[in-house]
Amino acid sequence: MAINQSSSNQVTKKKIAVLISGTGSNLKAIIEASVNDKINAEVALVISNNPDAFGINHAKDHNIPYAIINHKNFKDRREFEIEIEKQLDQKDLDLICLAGFMRILTADFTRKYHGKMINIHPSLLPEFKGANAIEDAFNAGAVETGCTVHYVIPEIDSGDIIIQKAIAIDKNDDLALLKNKIHQIEHIAYIEAIKKIL
Ligand code: GRF
Repeated sequence: MAINQSSSNQVTKKKIAVLISGTGSNLKAIIEASVNDKINAEVALVISNNPDAFGINHAKDHNIPYAIINHKNFKDRREFEIEIEKQLDQKDLDLICLAGFMRILTADFTRKYHGKMINIHPSLLPEFKGANAIEDAFNAGAVETGCTVHYVIPEIDSGDIIIQKAIAIDKNDDLALLKNKIHQIEHIAYIEAIKKIL
């Protein structure tokens, strides 16, 4: 019996959800890797807490289901997360990727998805944790920085490291150029990390 190749591929593809808050350049890289079969996975869901996040357009462009769950509409962090959980749990996901998702997550949430949820951070962790990692490395006069993909645990920007990529900070780099260089390596690192896990 002939097997339809495309439908058999779809059956075996792993399912990823991506959580964003902003530009979504890492989301775009993940979608493109899945569409071009660089990873054996499909982006099954995109969630943004920010209704104005540019990254939502990447989901729309590829007909990927997306949900806008605005944290401002919930009475507390946990209520907000419970709504996210409802969306995630409908999808039978293999992996949840945080990609510029700018909300602090509770221990309840991170424990529920322990081992299944990863994040990308723009520094060589444990150096320069926090929301301004690129600026902090730049202002500290570091000679190198980079990015880290790691598992998510209750402690922020911690958790086992899956992949790190380093770049030198050139003395001629300004902050904008450095940010750009880091984003370039992030897109490569995130795909490598997903491949490694799946
Ligand atoms: C990235 O630099 C990532 O490391 C950090 O937030 C940024 C998101 O960028 N957590 P984008 O929205 O994927 O373009």
